[in-house]
Amino acid sequence: MFELLANFSAYAVKLRGFHIFCGSQNLKAESLIEAHQLTFALAAKLTAACPYKPEVINLGGGLGIPYFAGEKRLDVATVGASLTALTEQYQAELDGIELVIELGRFLVAEAGLYACKVLDKKVSRGTTYLVCNGGLHHHLSNSGNFGQVIRKNYPVAIANRMAQKDTELVTIVGPLCTPLDIVADRMELPKAEVGDWVVVYQSGAYGATASPQDFLGHPAVAEILNVTDRATERMVLENLGKDNPELVEEIRRLMFVFEDIQKLGDKDIQSLLKNVETNQWAMALKGSSNALQEKIMKNMSSRASEILKEEMGFLGKVKLSDVEAIQQKIVDIVRGLEESGQLQRPGSDGEEEFVA
Ligand SMILES: Cc1ncc(COP(=O)(O)O)c(C=O)c1O
Repeated sequence: MFELLANFSAYAVKLRGFHIFCGSQNLKAESLIEAHQLTFALAAKLTAACPYKPEVINLGGGLGIPYFAGEKRLDVATVGASLTALTEQYQAELDGIELVIELGRFLVAEAGLYACKVLDKKVSRGTTYLVCNGGLHHHLSNSGNFGQVIRKNYPVAIANRMAQKDTELVTIVGPLCTPLDIVADRMELPKAEVGDWVVVYQSGAYGATASPQDFLGHPAVAEILNVTDRATERMVLENLGKDNPELVEEIRRLMFVFEDIQKLGDKDIQSLLKNVETNQWAMALKGSSNALQEKIMKNMSSRASEILKEEMGFLGKVKLSDVEAIQQKIVDIVRGLEESGQLQRPGSDGEEEFVA
């Protein structure tokens, strides 16, 4: 580095400054202070070796936050006092240079919670498991797969049972097909049930942005919009549609698929039946689940459902692409009916907006 700096003027590159980073997640004031002393000394040496004055020196980050049982909060005042003393000590050497420290988790980790919902509870080989709708793909660092050699549990709570005294030993896992998908391993927590909320603290840094969200996950925009209220969904899609209508169309398709029709209420299925021809149903239902076929037929008269069954029989072998095209048409009809207020899609919080 020093050799390089001696000849730096010869290169067609402008050096703005130096970036010195010596570690992350440090909770010991004395080791951070030692690192800062070495960093300042190195910064002064580099500056002296530089053919012109650098504009900026980045002193790195590394201030930690407590994650695990027994960890103590960093004594940030002592670190701050030492940094002040160092800036005074090196004032002459580093005069006029902007000094930067780049804190990541220290600023934001404690501001974020990760929440996922319990989908299933089961006992396997003596261990009680809570299976959630989120895990490793949303929060890789909590799962331990962000480089932890020995996995430790982040602080975790059952958010809707904070005051409950009745506890049990549970392992909380995510929905992915890998044993690495762990949210909490053998933790004593309030006895939870399906539908409860598991919350992981200290999740504002190295959470979603440091996680492989597409790994066995669902396309994120559609997944998020599916659980937001309808007013927000409409606002987001309308605004996005001004710039990119094709993208909005694609998102809408991901948000509601043909099979989701079985989640509609009977009244809404009947509205839909009035707008879709029997021959369209016959084709579309060829490629659908028994549950959806039953749901549609149960909302028809017995005569109409007999005719539909016959039509499906007559069709014989059909091309999948033809089936999917008709299914998409029916999904578009669902959307049209929803837009005109004749049907309510499932999945939202059901809150309606009213105007006087
Ligand atoms: C170059 C660099 N700067 C800053 C950080 C942030 O560190 P932390 O989040 O521990 O403050 C990292 C983390 O590894 C890093 O590599």
